Amino acid sequence: MSLIYEPSRAFSKEARIKNMCEYKELCLQAEDDYTGYWAKLAREKIDWFEPFHTVLDESNAPFYKWFLGGKLNVTHQCLRRHLNVRKNKAAIIWESEFGDKRIITYLQLYYRVNRMANLMKNKFDIKKGDRVILYMPMIPEAVFAMLACAKIGAIHSVVFGGFSAEALRDRIEDSKAKLVITADGAFRRGKPYMLKPIVDEALSIGCECCKKVLMIERNKEPVNYKRGRDYIYNELIMQESQYCDPEPMDSEDPLFLLYTSGSTGKPKGVQHSSAGYILWAQYTMEHVFDVKENDTFWCTADIGWITGHTYIVYGPLAMGATTFIYEGTPTYPDAGRFWKNIEEHRINQFYTSPTAIRMLHKEGSNEPSKYDLSSLKVLGTVGEPINPDAWLWLRESVGNNRCSIVDTWWQTETGGHMISPLPGATPQKPGYATFPLPGICAEIVDNNGNQVPRGKKGLLCITKPWPSMIRTIWGDSKRFVKAYFSDVKKDGKPVYFSGDGAIMDEDGYIMITGRTDDVINVSGHRLGTAEIEAVLAHHENVSEVAVVGKPNPIKGEGIFAYIVLKNASDNIGEEIDMIKELNKLVVKQIGAIARLDAIKFVPGLPKTRSGKIVRRILRSIARNEEINQDTSTLENPAIVEQIQMLDAN
Ligand code: WT7
Repeated sequence: MSLIYEPSRAFSKEARIKNMCEYKELCLQAEDDYTGYWAKLAREKIDWFEPFHTVLDESNAPFYKWFLGGKLNVTHQCLRRHLNVRKNKAAIIWESEFGDKRIITYLQLYYRVNRMANLMKNKFDIKKGDRVILYMPMIPEAVFAMLACAKIGAIHSVVFGGFSAEALRDRIEDSKAKLVITADGAFRRGKPYMLKPIVDEALSIGCECCKKVLMIERNKEPVNYKRGRDYIYNELIMQESQYCDPEPMDSEDPLFLLYTSGSTGKPKGVQHSSAGYILWAQYTMEHVFDVKENDTFWCTADIGWITGHTYIVYGPLAMGATTFIYEGTPTYPDAGRFWKNIEEHRINQFYTSPTAIRMLHKEGSNEPSKYDLSSLKVLGTVGEPINPDAWLWLRESVGNNRCSIVDTWWQTETGGHMISPLPGATPQKPGYATFPLPGICAEIVDNNGNQVPRGKKGLLCITKPWPSMIRTIWGDSKRFVKAYFSDVKKDGKPVYFSGDGAIMDEDGYIMITGRTDDVINVSGHRLGTAEIEAVLAHHENVSEVAVVGKPNPIKGEGIFAYIVLKNASDNIGEEIDMIKELNKLVVKQIGAIARLDAIKFVPGLPKTRSGKIVRRILRSIARNEEINQDTSTLENPAIVEQIQMLDAN
């Protein structure tokens, strides 16, 4: 029997959703009148310029359209409408590793965003629909830039600052961005690191489309400037007006693109809409975090990921909450830093990754007790499955057995939470994302779309469209249909397949078991095995390569590469050099997050008779699991044992 933890009575009493009856009531409302449920919410929550006439258009499925006819601007929702009631409230509280602080009120943020929007319009000729790449550290200017794009209808695409020049170039080129906004660099672990030189390099190896670079001065380290191409934000921004008319946007106009890895080929530009997305950001802030007017909300993700988009920027600001932004690492100067931040800023909701929790547990299990964490109400995790050990430590040591824990399952493609406990209602079980949000039809099915029995693993699908769903893959609508709407059908109709496996237990609780495709989840970051393989295959001495994930106690999964060399060597020194070279290649082409945990040089790879590499067998070998697949049908059955022997050494 697994343990169940009820929400605290005191918390439930004040929560928006107070118990499971209220939760079920909402689920029933959505079931009875699906479009009516979302229409009511959209009317109540969004401050429309013009009302919508059609809630959901399914005529061109799976290209679903929501709230047609409606006009809005997301910055009106996140800023302008708050000025009447909370203009002097802190919108952003920012802190650096060194402890420097900046507080930006809603009125100040509104002015900053307007100035930046005007700068983009006037200086760089950015118009509605143009793409702008943001390659930024965790500073408030990153938020200004995102919202400035939204204000004038430009489509931002934030690229995580850990990605390499090649990865940045690919994203600039795929989105055909006209402008890159970046910073000279920032600080990490007390030392400066650089971003602008990486932008320079990206533009030197391609990116014809991109003519201008706007750079924010952050660490003031020397950088190169290219006349006529590079501009310094700090010198220009105060010349711009602090007023700017918002571009009226259609509900379905894209708000942003965010690149994520798939199981094949190059990264996918996940396209999100304006109305459906912002509705979801707000809906989930209310239900999953139960954020109240005076709360300070902290999400530790980087803004380069979807979590940062929805739960650092759009969600908290749409709510009129205070969002805390921390530019730093969890263990600098020590493993108490997060708890110190929580104490100092009286954080009420704290949202982070299982990897961070496992690391802080390991490096400072006693640290939380040194700080006053009594302001905390809700603790959230996202990005990967959380093991019960880490969950229990979080509950006991950080939450003092008082806070609800929300293990939120969702994806870049879903825009916001899909399956999660509601903190005032759901009895929580460690390791379980529990139940779908009201209105979300999550089903665990087999390949034929039939629900699998409880206790059995199946494919996690969302069987009805929802407002914040991915609209398409930028520039590749065929791939959109193939990647998400071709594996599973229900009643003859293709439904959204997440790529994840899941199990429902006897109480109806959902546990996410992880990806079922060739995607590896390292510290909550998605990497496609195909992407990494393509980089490794580039090396002149690599003949064949297969990449798989292997469980890692801190990072969730680590990256394992099996490589067949053209010219193998018995010399250990040469092998070590080769390993170093291959790792350098991966870091250069993708970024440090793709660094390999292990490389094994093997004489061959297990293949089917038709020549397909059977990664499943390699995965079992990497995990030291028994191979329960029939290997006799392989083209080269003997190879399995050979690799196993090598692996044991
Ligand atoms: C993949 C999505 C959603 C923001 C962060 C990652 C895994 C996400 C959970 C969870 C188990 C989870 C899934 C999913 N994942 N949340 N609570 N429990 N696994 O976004 O890069 O789009 O990755 O992260 O495998 O498909 P992403």
